[in-house]
Amino acid sequence: MNNRVEKALNEQIHKEASSSQYYLAMASWSENNGLNGTAKFMYTHSDEERFHMLKLVKFVNERGGKAVIPSIEKPPLEFSTLKNVFESLLKHEIGVTESINNLVDVCLQEKDYTTHNFVQWYVAEQLEEEALARSMLDKLKLIGADSGGMYMFDRDLENAVNPEPNKTA
Ligand code: FEO
Repeated sequence: MNNRVEKALNEQIHKEASSSQYYLAMASWSENNGLNGTAKFMYTHSDEERFHMLKLVKFVNERGGKAVIPSIEKPPLEFSTLKNVFESLLKHEIGVTESINNLVDVCLQEKDYTTHNFVQWYVAEQLEEEALARSMLDKLKLIGADSGGMYMFDRDLENAVNPEPNKTA
């Protein structure tokens, strides 16, 4: 496997693993703040990110590279508000999208069209994840400080969770 492509794929493994831990921290905070629907959504999202990481690990190894399993920085323990949770999530996903775009660039520069094709799944996934985070934030902005609205938001999230996240890929 091309060295630059392998390095970029390993950086992406680190990003996806960090995302999984980050969403796990958000799930835990939500659970401790009585937001059980949001917690369920974040636990599932954390599992999805782990799946994104695993998919990369297997791809690197299958193509003759060596996947590096990274150590992960500690995510935040506290968030000020639910809106702050989703703002953090969107900011994080924008960073992941930049990293995927960089990976696409490296694949094209190195003429690795197989990896380029593989990475397209992540390009589409990022579009969806950013759109979802933006729509959640829009709703939270409308709700403002209204506790009834917040209750409905949390309940809606509980019902929105895909019961089999790993089957979406
Ligand atoms: Fe797998 Fe949300 O990035």
